[in-house]
Amino acid sequence: MKRICRRGPAFYLFLFLSAIVVFIFTYRNFSSTHLSSLFEAPFEDTKPVRALAIELHPKEHIRRLPTSLTHHWNITEGVRAPDGVNKTVYLINGEFPGPTIEARTGDQLIVVVSNQLKKGEGVAIHWHGLHMKGANHMDGVVGVTQKDIPAGEEFTYKFEISKTQAGTFWYHSHSELQRADGLYGGLVIHRRFEQGFSESDNFDYEDDRLLLVGDWYHRSAADVQASYLQSRNSENEPVPDSLLINGLGSFNCSTVVHLVECKDVRRPSMKMSPGSTRLRVVNVGAMSGFNLTLESGNMRVIKIDGGNDVVPSASVESVGILYPGERVDIISDGPGNSLTIALDLENFHCPEQVFTAIQTFAIEQPKKQAGHRAIGPMPESAGQTILVYTHIEMPAHDDQVTIGYMNQTNWIPQVEPLLYVPREQWDNHQFMPTVKATEDWVDIVVNNFDDQGHPFHLHGHDFYVLTRHEFPRADIKPYNPFDPPSQFSSLSEPLLYPRPNLENPPLKDTIYIPKHGYVILRIRADNIGVWFFHCHIVWPMVTRLAMGLDVR
Ligand SMILES: *[C@@H]1O[C@H](CO)[C@@H](O)[C@H](O)[C@H]1NC(C)=O
Ligand SMILES: *[C@@H]1O[C@H](CO)[C@@H](O)[C@H](O)[C@H]1NC(C)=O
Ligand SMILES: *[C@@H]1O[C@H](CO)[C@@H](O)[C@H](O)[C@H]1NC(C)=O
Ligand SMILES: *[C@@H]1O[C@H](CO)[C@@H](O)[C@H](O)[C@H]1NC(C)=O
Ligand SMILES: *[C@@H]1O[C@H](CO)[C@@H](O)[C@H](O)[C@H]1NC(C)=O
Repeated sequence: MKRICRRGPAFYLFLFLSAIVVFIFTYRNFSSTHLSSLFEAPFEDTKPVRALAIELHPKEHIRRLPTSLTHHWNITEGVRAPDGVNKTVYLINGEFPGPTIEARTGDQLIVVVSNQLKKGEGVAIHWHGLHMKGANHMDGVVGVTQKDIPAGEEFTYKFEISKTQAGTFWYHSHSELQRADGLYGGLVIHRRFEQGFSESDNFDYEDDRLLLVGDWYHRSAADVQASYLQSRNSENEPVPDSLLINGLGSFNCSTVVHLVECKDVRRPSMKMSPGSTRLRVVNVGAMSGFNLTLESGNMRVIKIDGGNDVVPSASVESVGILYPGERVDIISDGPGNSLTIALDLENFHCPEQVFTAIQTFAIEQPKKQAGHRAIGPMPESAGQTILVYTHIEMPAHDDQVTIGYMNQTNWIPQVEPLLYVPREQWDNHQFMPTVKATEDWVDIVVNNFDDQGHPFHLHGHDFYVLTRHEFPRADIKPYNPFDPPSQFSSLSEPLLYPRPNLENPPLKDTIYIPKHGYVILRIRADNIGVWFFHCHIVWPMVTRLAMGLDVR
């Protein structure tokens, strides 16, 4: 279904009012330009003004024995102006984004979360990408693995980080829209020093930095969602206003379209010491993918989504598009270049309103290449195959809202989390196929009928991406693994389905499923529990594009 940007009389009234606002702000800025340039002139390079990168401390973790790390978190709300525009955001111990957790493989994490939000507002925290083996009940999904933590109460998350997981992860609220209003933070697991080598030896870098990058809305997520769900606007995904890195950004106040108080702030910059740097990039956004490029420099991608497999690491200029929830670890070499982050326009149907930001980073000398390792070939077929379809139902009447379906089910959380309720008592909004916990492979085939792509995240497991394909036209028959294998493309029939990659498929935990397309994901269902599998964009997530795997 083709979507268009609908514009009613209200839009034109809005445009007229915006023009007045823009005029007022432009006038105001003219009168304040002189003052602000005076203020910025004596800027000293040695002073870390709004420095971007979060510095990581692998040396404090890689040579010690596994231990138990305890954090106490108070979750509150407060006003911050990350890009010069005030917004009420969530704070963890007064910080936005929340404090970065650093640990090593095999550590136990204890996070005591005290919900100090206003009455009626619950919270739950998900540890994105961690396997949570033996700790399904700590996975943080309201309605699936826990009830939300009510305001005024405390909940202790306690789990072990597996001895095989190391890499770039993050945590975020899994309770409605809070992620889009800033309830997230970084979670980095350092690999222990092994056989005389650290990861920085293997990949040849000196510094380790975290970049939490994402789109940003000036209105509260509740407001954005309300206008999205209103049938008049439901066909146009909400366009973000800004872009933040580690909770910092800059917004050009003279381009303001919504009624906001705005203060021009200098675009933040990143300092790096001489030597090459590992940049761990996380898309913490609500909706947009982004493309990350190095101007006239080079970078090597070494990992994706915290997976243990090392990605073939030729020098690249861009890493392609990173969608919400996805991570990429890169090594940057080469001094004095700039790093460009551009929001992807594909999912916006009114892209003329999209804001794009450029951020600048200093980069140092190139060094030698790191090696890479390939996984062994996989069997042709898996022991079990799960086939699902996703689609978004458009409103038939003006008063209905858009709803996302996995097969015929739109997910609504049960009051009692599934983990604590026998399967017979799950209601029919729970689509959680049963998977036998074995050492065998399980394939998950997801066909997306929507005219928009969706990043999906699977909890508790990594998956190999055997196929990701977008059909050239909307009318092509979706992929059905139960049809005979002659369905794969050949020279004479190039329009059919590509052959799955069984040689060196990437290992991930979040995957972008293209519009009119499909993915084949292969997991080892070796982690018993109920594991959520859902669209990681905040807005359609709320329209219930979610299911799960009941691994038993
Ligand atoms: C959390 O809040 C409690 C109660 O207000 C306070 O005693 C404690 O110091 C706070 N902890 C942190 C880390 O801010
Ligand atoms: C801000 O936007 C205005 C109007 O589009 C433009 O003229 C100006 O150059 C922009 N300023 C910056 C710093 O980008
Ligand atoms: C943001 O809010 C603070 C108070 O919370 C106020 O002092 C400040 O002027 C506001 N700034 C803008 C740009 O609206
Ligand atoms: C990312 O940006 C670079 C440079 O602007 C461009 O060459 C490349 O095609 C983009 N990649 C994608 C996947 O859009
Ligand atoms: C999802 O729906 C398709 C089409 O009806 C069906 O073939 C498939 O078995 C369903 N998947 C599951 C896991 O029930």
